Amino acid sequence: MENLKKNKRTKVFMLAAACLCALSCHGRELYRDASRPIEERVEDALSRMTTREKIDLIHAQSKFSSRGVPRLGIPDLWCTDGPHGIRPDVLWDEWDQAGCTNDSCVAFPALTCLAATWNPNAALTYGRCIGEEARYRGKDVLLGPGVNILRTPLNGRNFEYMGEDPFLASVMVVPYVKGVQENGVAACVKHFALNNNESNRHNTNVTVDDRTLYEIYLPAFKAAVTEGGAWSIMGAYNLYKDQHACHNEYLLNNILKGEWGFDGAVISDWGGAHDTPQAISNGLDLEFGTWTDGLGAGTVNAYDNYYLATPFVNMLNDGKADMEDLDDKARRVLRLIFRTAMDHSKGDGEMCSDAHYEAARRIGDEGIVLLKNDNRLLPIGGDKTPRKILVVGENAIKMMTVGGGSSSLKVQRECSPLDGIRAAAGNSIAVDYARGYVGDLSGEYNGVTTGQDLSDSRSAEELLEEAVAKAAEADMVIFIGGLNKSWRQDCEDSDRSGLELPYGQDRLIEALAEANRNLAVVNISGNPVAMPWVKKVPAIVQAWYLGSEAGNSIADILFGKVSPSGKLPMTFPVSLADNGAHALDAYPGTKRDGSDIVDIEYKEGLLVGYRWHDAKKIKPLFAFGHGLSYTDFKYGKAVADRKEFDGNGSITFKIPVTNCGDRAGAEVVQLYISRKDSPVPSPVKELKGFSKVWLEPGETKEVSISVDKDDLSRFDAEKHCWTADRGEYTAQIGASSDDIKSTVKFNLK
Ligand code: GLC
Repeated sequence: MENLKKNKRTKVFMLAAACLCALSCHGRELYRDASRPIEERVEDALSRMTTREKIDLIHAQSKFSSRGVPRLGIPDLWCTDGPHGIRPDVLWDEWDQAGCTNDSCVAFPALTCLAATWNPNAALTYGRCIGEEARYRGKDVLLGPGVNILRTPLNGRNFEYMGEDPFLASVMVVPYVKGVQENGVAACVKHFALNNNESNRHNTNVTVDDRTLYEIYLPAFKAAVTEGGAWSIMGAYNLYKDQHACHNEYLLNNILKGEWGFDGAVISDWGGAHDTPQAISNGLDLEFGTWTDGLGAGTVNAYDNYYLATPFVNMLNDGKADMEDLDDKARRVLRLIFRTAMDHSKGDGEMCSDAHYEAARRIGDEGIVLLKNDNRLLPIGGDKTPRKILVVGENAIKMMTVGGGSSSLKVQRECSPLDGIRAAAGNSIAVDYARGYVGDLSGEYNGVTTGQDLSDSRSAEELLEEAVAKAAEADMVIFIGGLNKSWRQDCEDSDRSGLELPYGQDRLIEALAEANRNLAVVNISGNPVAMPWVKKVPAIVQAWYLGSEAGNSIADILFGKVSPSGKLPMTFPVSLADNGAHALDAYPGTKRDGSDIVDIEYKEGLLVGYRWHDAKKIKPLFAFGHGLSYTDFKYGKAVADRKEFDGNGSITFKIPVTNCGDRAGAEVVQLYISRKDSPVPSPVKELKGFSKVWLEPGETKEVSISVDKDDLSRFDAEKHCWTADRGEYTAQIGASSDDIKSTVKFNLK
C-alpha cells in the first residue's frame, strides 16, 4: 500500500513539475529567446495567439505594414519598395508622401544595368547596400528584386528586371537576395509569375506550355528560392490557368511550396488578391493593397474587409475553412518577422553613405555597354582631346529617379549626365549644351517632385536648328537621349507603343550626324530601341537608368576613366517583327468574349530573345551578350577537361584570354551549349555559363567555366521532370551570342 501511495505521490510531483516547466516555458516566453531555433519560437508564439491575432497577422493594416502581435511584443512588419532604392515614406493609408525629411536615399542603377555587369559579385554588393538602406530605414521586407523575363521590348517594366535570359537572371539574382538578407531584411522576389507586360496587367490570363514555363519563366525565381533562400515572394497581378497568380494553386502550392519547398511568405502584389476561398487554399500568406491598382488609391481603411480578414473568420466560423490553413499562413508570416524585425543581430544598416554612392557608381561603370566605337572615337582624351564638346538631348539634364511607378525614389542627390561630363571635362575642355528636343516635362510621382522646370517654348524646328548649328562648331558631339520614366515609356502599368525612340530623336540624330561626324550617341533606357541611324553614328553607348551617380558613371566611360565591360542582357532587334512574340502576334493578347480577361498565349515558346534570332537566322541590331571594350581581347582555343561526360560532377572548359590592347579592361567570356540531334525541338544554343575576367595590357588568363548535368537538361513536360539526353553536345565559347570564338564537342553518356 505504502509503495502505491509513494508512486502516486511521485506521479503527482512529476505532473506538477511538468506543468511548472510548461508554465515556465510559457512564462519564459520562449519565442522571445533569440538563442532558440526559429521554428521553436514560431510554434511557441503561434500557440499563444488568438484566432483574431492570427488573422490580423496575415493582411495589411496600412499601405505598407501588417500587424504584429502587440500583446506578445511581436512587432509590425514593414514593407518598402523597391528594387533600386528605398522608397520615401507615405501616409499611413495613402500613396502620397508622409513629408518626412529623413527618407532621401541613394538610387542604385536599375537591375537591367546590374544584369549588364554579368558580375555576381556586383549583385552581392548591390544587395548588401540596398539591404543596409532598408535596415537603416526600419524596413523588414524589400519589395524586389524583379526577375520577370524580357519577352517583349515594349514591356514598361523591363527596366526593373534582368533581361531575356533565364540563366543570366538566375545567376545574378542569388547574390542580390543573399546580400539583402544578410541585413535581416527579406527580399521579396517579384512578380511571380508570368508578368511579362504591363498592359492589362490585372486581367491578363497567360497560357504557356510547361516546358517554356519551367525553362524560361521560372528559373530565376527558383534560383532565388532554392539557392538564394528568399524569405518572401510577391505574387503577380496576372492570371495563369485562370487563377490570379496571387492565389494560384499551380504556381504557389504545387511549384513554389511543393516542388521548391519554399518556407517563406507569399505576399500579394498591391491589389492582387481577389477571392477569399482561393486566397485561403491557393497559397497566399500576406495580403496587401486590396482595392488599389498598386499605384492608385483604393478603399480607405478597408483592412477588416480584406479577403484574408473578416471573410476568412466567417468561413472558419461556418466550418468552411480549416484552422490549419490559418496556422500555416500565420506560421510563415511569424517566420518572416523572426527572420527580420525580431532578429536584432543584423545591425542597423546605413544610408546615403560614401560606400553606397561608390557602389552605385561602380555598378553603373560596369553595366554601361559600349555598343559601337568606330575609329575609336571614344574615349575622349589622349591625343585627340577635343577643345569643345557639344552635349545635346533632354536626357542629359532630366532627372530619372522620379517616375516609372513604384520603383520611383526621393534621392538625396542625382548627378545628371551633363553635370558628370562637365565635371570630368574640367577646365581643359569647353562643354556646351543644346536641348535638341523636348520630351516629357513631368517630374512628379506620388508627391515626390524633381523640382526641375524643363519647359522650353521653342519649336521642334528651332531646337533642332540650334543643336545642328552648334554641332557644326564643336569638335565632338555627344547626344544623350533615349526613353524616360513617363507613361508608355519605361514605366509601370503601361507598355510602349513601339520600338522607336520618341520625340523626333531619330531625325535629330540624323541631322547631328550630318553636321559633325564625331558624334557619340548615349541611349538612356531600360529597353531596346530601334536605331535607324546606326550606320551614321560612329559611337553608341547603352546607358541604363543609373540612379544617383548616373552622370559620373557615364562620364567615367566617355572619358575613359573606366573601360566599358558591360554586355547586353537583352537582344536589340532591328524591328519589332524580329521578336518572337510580335512576329507571332502573341502580344498583347485578345479580349475574352463577355469578360474583362485578356488572353495571351506565349506562342513563341522557348524562342525568347536570341533564341528566336538563332532559330529564324535573323541578325539583330545588337546581340544578347554584346559589349565592346576600349581594349582588345584575343581568345585562344577552348579545351574541355574530358571528351566524355557521364553526368556526374561537371565538365570544365578552359579558354585562354589575352588583353592585346594598350589598356586594362574586363571581358565576359560566355558559354553557350548546343545539342546535336535533340529528340525534341530545342533552341540552337543557350547560355549555360559565363565568367568575367579583368586583364592588364598584355596579360593572359585561363578562364574556366563548368557545366553540370542540370545545365544540359531540358524539362520533359510529359513526365514532368528534368532530363538530360545522351549524345553529342557542342560548347560554344564567345564574347557574345553572335561572336563565337571557339567550339568544343563532347558526349554526354
Ligand atoms: C505595385 C507593383 C509592385 C509594388 C507594389 C507596391 O503595383 O506591381 O511591384 O511593389 O505595387 O508599391
